[in-house]
Amino acid sequence: MTAGIISVGSYIPAKRVSNEELSKTVDTSDEWIKSHTGIGNRHIASEEETCSYMATEAAKDALNRAGLVKEDLDFIIVATITPDYKDFPATANLVQRNLEIGNIGSIDIKAACTGFAYGLELGRGLILGGTAKKVLVVGAEKLSAITNWDDRGTAVLFGDGAGAAVMGSVDEGTGIVDSVLRTDGTGYDALNMPTGGTATPYKPGETPKEDMYLYMDGQRVYNFAVKVNVDIVKELMDRNNLIPEDIDYIVPHQANYRIILAASRRSKIPLDKYYLNMEEYANTSSASIPLALAEMDSKGLLKKGMKILTVGFGGGLTYGGNYIVW
Ligand code: UT7
Repeated sequence: MTAGIISVGSYIPAKRVSNEELSKTVDTSDEWIKSHTGIGNRHIASEEETCSYMATEAAKDALNRAGLVKEDLDFIIVATITPDYKDFPATANLVQRNLEIGNIGSIDIKAACTGFAYGLELGRGLILGGTAKKVLVVGAEKLSAITNWDDRGTAVLFGDGAGAAVMGSVDEGTGIVDSVLRTDGTGYDALNMPTGGTATPYKPGETPKEDMYLYMDGQRVYNFAVKVNVDIVKELMDRNNLIPEDIDYIVPHQANYRIILAASRRSKIPLDKYYLNMEEYANTSSASIPLALAEMDSKGLLKKGMKILTVGFGGGLTYGGNYIVW
């Protein structure tokens, strides 16, 4: 048996904030953001658009696109670093509640921007191991809720949204062929939520306001990101005897255009093989790869037999990717 993606879907909040609009409240400019990141807009969730709400809507879209019903699912994986509830319950449990389906397992993955790549491999394992027939894998983020809007170094980078995939058994020769999943926990402090866990609890009146939000050492993460993009693509290609000409698309985490440009040059893989949409959605962490896949599907770009690499990298520090034959 082979396991793979049967369909993809997405949910994007209607509220769209351009760089120009953001420049009215943050000390930045369209010129700086575009030239340093390639980002032009981001979508920002309303109070009602919780992480689980967006994840559920993306799941419904993926089910609709495949002509499946929610009862077809028997496991839910949600990759997110912005869960509805900080420690528990899992956001996947709330998706199960929202979908109103029983006899189903659910779990969250906290692998930041690599979360969806981890989710696809775990989904494949559940299917091949016989635990589940159809697995829903969602990447969903409400990063606006943990963004320090007074910190221009991070406020311009992030957006909200959700992307989903329904996985199941697929034709021989297609599906998730291979995955590379890696962690470098020594970089845990390069990109994280400094406060609120049991190691550094929130102390009223003592915890600085900026520690309540996402923290990122941009340069450190940038250097890591370029290096691991090259490494993951090389490892997936070497392990599967692929040459650049074999690859139809690389779908990277959509953090920064410059990271992808540098990785493309070092990997000697033409930039036009990388599918990029950070211009419209900014960095949506776990959601960015499935959002890109759903957009590619809507545009009719994904054809059976295409060879696709996903590449995730981010907080943790985590990195990894999947080799998919569509
Ligand atoms: O999703 C997880 C993975 N995350 C990433 O991959 C992000 C990796 N990092 C990056 O993409 C880049 O490091 C950033 C886009 C975050 C920053 O770009 P940079 O080229 O590394 O800029 P920088 O932090 O070195 O700052 C350069 C200058 C500084 O001014 P001075 O000190 O040279 O006068 C900053 O204060 O740009 C300034 N700056 C800004 N100016 C206008 C920083 N942010 C802004 C801003 N608008 N938003």
